[in-house]
Amino acid sequence: MIKNKYGPPVEGEDFFGRERETEYAWQRLLDGNNVMFPAPRRVGKSSFAKKLLAVAKKEGWDTLEINLEKVHTEEAFLELFLEKLKGMSWWERAKEKASNLLDEVKSLKPKFKYEGVEVELEWQQNRADIYKAISDLLDHDKPTLIFFDELTVLLNSIVTTNSRKNEAENFLHWLRGIRQTSGTKIRWIFCSSIGISNFTFSHQITDAINDVPEYKLLAFDPDTSLRLIKALEESTSIELTDEIRQAMLDKIGYLLPFFIQILFERINSSIKVEQAKVDENLVANAYQDLLDDAHLNTWIERLQKQYGDKIDDAFALLRHVCQEKKGTKRDNLLNLMQKRHDADKAEQHLSALLHMLRNDGYLIEEGGLHFFRSPLIRDFWYKRHVL
Ligand SMILES: Nc1ncnc2c1ncn2[C@@H]1O[C@H](COP(=O)(O)OP(=O)(O)OP(=O)(O)O)[C@@H](O)[C@H]1O
Ligand SMILES: [Mg+2]
Repeated sequence: MIKNKYGPPVEGEDFFGRERETEYAWQRLLDGNNVMFPAPRRVGKSSFAKKLLAVAKKEGWDTLEINLEKVHTEEAFLELFLEKLKGMSWWERAKEKASNLLDEVKSLKPKFKYEGVEVELEWQQNRADIYKAISDLLDHDKPTLIFFDELTVLLNSIVTTNSRKNEAENFLHWLRGIRQTSGTKIRWIFCSSIGISNFTFSHQITDAINDVPEYKLLAFDPDTSLRLIKALEESTSIELTDEIRQAMLDKIGYLLPFFIQILFERINSSIKVEQAKVDENLVANAYQDLLDDAHLNTWIERLQKQYGDKIDDAFALLRHVCQEKKGTKRDNLLNLMQKRHDADKAEQHLSALLHMLRNDGYLIEEGGLHFFRSPLIRDFWYKRHVL
């Protein structure tokens, strides 16, 4: 039975729905494709990728998973990747070579701390060999599913490391080389909540990843959302009404399972702890409480982390858009940017930012108007940045 567990990716019985998506994506992998999930924050990418890993494992595949969000350098990546190879069915055969490589990579790390030019040089000379040796280790005959989460985060940190500008490109080409090994049975899943295509385009390296088709994972549909609410009711032994369930969906608008879970939990605790009645006020009150919920802070924090010097402009735009429920015209946003920049720069900043904010799931555009994709995030933004 599903538990109302949220925050980290869900697995096993806590993974709900997505039956059709799973079947489709698994078939794509079986057909020999790799896949990129470029979806906004909290849609459920990591959980979905883990679900596919579970399917692969059940079918006897080797699986390997790395969250690149916590890996800031290539050396750290290589070390982790080699460590993870210990889980492969063919590890015993490769053990000796792999251990030597691991030692070599590990010996680089402490040296890097001194940031010496010589170490950079040593690395530059060895890196191609090390990468090549690692790709030679892999067993291309063993069906294997490898999942790299938050690929763009690592690419960004490689790019921002001094004198390593080309290495994001090299890194992507290395991965591409592995993917293109003839007859390989290794399949890849990449997730990226910040637009990978924004990144590769702005660094002119789209070629390095254009063999990986994108699959846009969407929010839940209303039917699945209702099923999720009912499953949560069952597991927490509360009973809501059809009207309340529908009111939950109406309030949330953008039906991420995550939003459903946090709203449900507010309702659950107000019934169980505050002994609220199951009536029409229940949803409205729970929704108001949610606007102060720390879980939504991620929408602020991730912008702060990832928008670099565009952050103030991004905040200015969102602050404006959150005040207009009926949507904002582009011209109004352009005016706003013109107050902050020269005319030609204003246009450039606005297009770039609207593109990023749409890709990252903050805004949508419909009929020439820009809106928050989620009314919940819009109201949260208003409360935090306007009131
Ligand atoms: N299929 C699902 N069933 C139940 N809950 C889910 C499902 N997918 C996502 N969730 C809920 O949404 C939350 C976010 O899911 P997940 O971490 O997989 O999303 P993500 O798109 O990888 O997010 P981020 O961009 O923050 O990494 C999970 O903690 C879980 O509560
Ligand atoms: Mg994730």
